[in-house]
Amino acid sequence: MSYASAHGRASCDRDARQRTRCVVGWVEIKRRQGIRNKAVFAGSRAEKCANFELNLFSLVWLYSTRLLRGVKLFYTHLPAHWGMSKGCNSVTYAPLDTLKPVAKDVWIVDGPMIRFGMAPLKMQFPTRMTVIRSKRRALFIHSPTPLTDSLKAEIANIGEVRHIVGPNRIHYWWIPEWRTAFPKAEVWLAPRIREQAKGRIDFDAPELTKETGYPWDEEIKTLPVAGSFMTEVEFFHPASRTLVLTDFIENFEPKKLSWWWRWLARAGGVLAPNGGMPRDMRLTYSRQKPQLKAAVETMIGWNPERIILAHGKWIERDGAAELKRSFGWLLD
Ligand SMILES: [Fe+2]
Repeated sequence: MSYASAHGRASCDRDARQRTRCVVGWVEIKRRQGIRNKAVFAGSRAEKCANFELNLFSLVWLYSTRLLRGVKLFYTHLPAHWGMSKGCNSVTYAPLDTLKPVAKDVWIVDGPMIRFGMAPLKMQFPTRMTVIRSKRRALFIHSPTPLTDSLKAEIANIGEVRHIVGPNRIHYWWIPEWRTAFPKAEVWLAPRIREQAKGRIDFDAPELTKETGYPWDEEIKTLPVAGSFMTEVEFFHPASRTLVLTDFIENFEPKKLSWWWRWLARAGGVLAPNGGMPRDMRLTYSRQKPQLKAAVETMIGWNPERIILAHGKWIERDGAAELKRSFGWLLD
């Protein structure tokens, strides 16, 4: 079931509950009105009591309904207002969990929103995976998103999953389910994923520490870039001039953000169309600036046309120029 339909059904349920509450309240008031009408004949004291009881019930019923509605609005709208998204799921890129072609033999899959960061500033991140197909129909799965039955069927139509890649230490969550679904595929992990995953990755897998020596070398270039906190491994598909980054550039669209997160995204250097490496991530490369600069120059030298990003709006053209712009703070 999609988020939209689930949300729609919740609205219907809510309307039905409200109707039920209205009917029950109305019936009860009518019943008490009947008691009051009988009490009118029984004398003034009984009449006053019945009147008081009826008015009290009517007031409580009326205001409890409004109060409940107010509390509900507060709890459903406040997180959206203070959170990153303007609406329930607007931060993502629908349709989700389906292959979207972006170039010959290259697809993306937009996944669900995740929360990441420290409470209470947990940001909402849209997620994205990339699929590259080799000439032998071997599929290279980069930073996998959830594997639904329909996505599994779509994947089966385009090739055979051979490589499942966790490109940095915080991009691993859905790897186990892909590994289970595609037992012939080999998992490749960026350094420190197993340490980060704390048991979620409970199997051995080769690490992506070198630039060459991989089964995909003929068709995909590999570039590990080590920092103090993590190593992010970048990939380039020369045939389509597609560069696949993970968190090196984040590009959150203002229209998908509330004012508060828009301000934070701008301050963090990740607001589209001027997205870039998050400022906190830059700090983790402060001791490796020369190596980072050399890596960015290598990527610019690859002359990518498009850049796929894991979070936010990906770059469809002039990729090399976008790299120069977004890493201007490093290159200048
Ligand atoms: Fe990320």
